[in-house]
Amino acid sequence: MSGHGEAIPMTARQSGPLKGRADVPGDKSISHRALILGAMAIGETQVSGLLEGQDVLDTAAAMRAFGAEVIRHGEGAWSVHGVGVGGFAEPADVIDCGNSGTGVRLIMGAMATTAISATFTGDASLNKRPMGRVTDPLSLFGTQAYGRRGGRLPMTVLGAADPVPVRYAVPVPSAQVKSAVLLAGLNAPGQTVVIEKEPTRDHSERMLRGFGAELTVEKTGEGQVITLTGQPELKPQRVAVPRDPSSAAFPVCAALIVEGSDILVPGVSQNPTRNGLYTTLVEMGADIEFLDPREEGGEPVADLRVRASSLKGIEVPEARAASMIDEYPVLSVVAAFAEGKTVMRGVKELRVKESDRIDAMARGLEACGVRIEEEEDVLIVHGMGAGGVPGGARTKSHLDHRIAMSFLVLGLATKQPVSVDDGSPIATSFPVFEPLMAGLGARIERANR
Ligand code: S3P
Repeated sequence: MSGHGEAIPMTARQSGPLKGRADVPGDKSISHRALILGAMAIGETQVSGLLEGQDVLDTAAAMRAFGAEVIRHGEGAWSVHGVGVGGFAEPADVIDCGNSGTGVRLIMGAMATTAISATFTGDASLNKRPMGRVTDPLSLFGTQAYGRRGGRLPMTVLGAADPVPVRYAVPVPSAQVKSAVLLAGLNAPGQTVVIEKEPTRDHSERMLRGFGAELTVEKTGEGQVITLTGQPELKPQRVAVPRDPSSAAFPVCAALIVEGSDILVPGVSQNPTRNGLYTTLVEMGADIEFLDPREEGGEPVADLRVRASSLKGIEVPEARAASMIDEYPVLSVVAAFAEGKTVMRGVKELRVKESDRIDAMARGLEACGVRIEEEEDVLIVHGMGAGGVPGGARTKSHLDHRIAMSFLVLGLATKQPVSVDDGSPIATSFPVFEPLMAGLGARIERANR
């Protein structure tokens, strides 16, 4: 299911102080992995706090198509009766991963070393995204893939009947590629090794260990060397999905730019592979308190108290990019309200997300009166100071949830309202965005076309 029916035009208007508590939903990355690893374990995995966004629902449907029993018991409470490593059945029909790059790439990895075939498709956004970054390393196991020109979906993947283990240095910083190779390595004999120059989100490594796989991580001159021993019996788990720090970014950033705001966002991940935005905001002068640091669902978390702040533009170091890759769109909004320029380097991976996020943000911010400089790998936002951004434009979301939410956050603090042509993709990752933001006092409405 693509999850994209009718376009939903939306408008955000200058709002009074945001106040209260924002309980954001479960982490998308961990939710996908809980369903996939649950399907590859033998027995019943129980998941609480699962994100019920369309991306994750599409992965749940895919796991059913590969033979796992996936049941919803109540809000966020799911069980997965897995079929074991190498136990996937051949799906009877095309697997539609909707808008989700994580879904399709991880699932391709999970089925790549079982002797079945599957055909994958997605929505107009996903069918434009490159899959070669995953099918290239999967071919080393003996997997074959036939897609459209440029390695695009729809694509048929023939799993390797006799997989061999692989040693692969990931050429782009991508947790999806790393995870696809590790999931494929589960059903290959011997040791599969993945090397990444820069660390990316480590949920797969943490969860594979949690499900009983033997996996080691070593820091060497080459980078991080991750070694997985193939053909384990994965044991079912109870997975408590922590809240999504990438979703928390929207209320947090909104509170920073809306005058007089003071909000609490509980349980935000402090996992160093995910918290780059929060480090950056603090460097910009954001008033954020990190309260009650603790562990939840195997992740370090803290409650964030966030107050509206005077911000200054900074240089965001390239080495931080992987730990905040999904947060640059909303950071570029915050940067528009800072004094001075914010320089974001090493961001070219943003061009192959649900949309070309550098282009989408640059065009929309420019339309709202913000000066932007853009190169292939760099985005520079010239800040206009608190309250200084004109707004007053209709922006395009390009089937991209994070672009839609970023422009709606922008409109809460601009002089004139900001509209987006289509807010429907928000349901892929943050289905309760509208009521949650309204609860804080944000003026976001569905507008007539
Ligand atoms: C994700 C990895 C990142 C991120 C995506 C989720 C994951 O993508 O942008 O939203 O769950 O592994 P890349 O691996 O393409 O960087």
